[in-house]
Amino acid sequence: MKMKFDICKNYDEMSKHAAKIFADLIKEKPNAVLGLATGSTPEGMYDELSGAELDFSSIKTVNLDEYYPISPYNENSYRYFMNKHLFSRVNVKIENTYVPNGSAADPEKECKEYDELIEKLGGIDLQVLGIGPNGHIGFNEPGSELFSNTHVTALTESTIAANSRFFDNISDVPTKALTMGMSSILSAKKIVLLISGKVKHNALKALLNDKITPNVPATFLKLHRDVTVICDTDAYNG
Ligand code: F6R
Repeated sequence: MKMKFDICKNYDEMSKHAAKIFADLIKEKPNAVLGLATGSTPEGMYDELSGAELDFSSIKTVNLDEYYPISPYNENSYRYFMNKHLFSRVNVKIENTYVPNGSAADPEKECKEYDELIEKLGGIDLQVLGIGPNGHIGFNEPGSELFSNTHVTALTESTIAANSRFFDNISDVPTKALTMGMSSILSAKKIVLLISGKVKHNALKALLNDKITPNVPATFLKLHRDVTVICDTDAYNG
């Protein structure tokens, strides 16, 4: 099935639209498993969800990725981000929130157990994704494999440069990450991909045709039967 494109006039409208899809699911299935992402793009959606008086008490969440190595208490860790932007603002039980452990002694084992955990939870009902300017999804960088589970990966120079905006120094950016692979992501029942800003225009353009290429990992999402791309006009028009 073709990807669906919802074009919103700006970031705010995109965030509200995405939040409504999550809110509807939470009301319909109070024990849903939500697949979550970090980064600037979903912040507005998390703000909306935090203000929406939803009941997260039986909700479970699994995040896409985490830097490696990094302490969960480091302000740049994705665990810290999630606690700050969503988990501390809603009534989710913190023990029902899962982010890959960036300080695991054995990262390969952590990845294997993460996939087992997702399976044990019954799979992801709704996964939100952002996209890198180079088309990465999670930390599945250009050249990534389609059939890949959660794994340890090296960040590309361009992603290290893009993410250095949050760190004091570019040399502080971890060079590796633990990330769900494309297989793990594609097993989500429904996917919402958020794309905002002119800097993402080229990545978005690659989704508008039928081509699938590992050079732009987001194009693998064309294989899924229920993907909604929610973008703003900046991203769409460039
Ligand atoms: C974050 C993630 C990344 C980001 C992407 C875009 O969990 O998986 O793939 O979605 O790097 O980041 P922003 O939204 O900061 O432009």
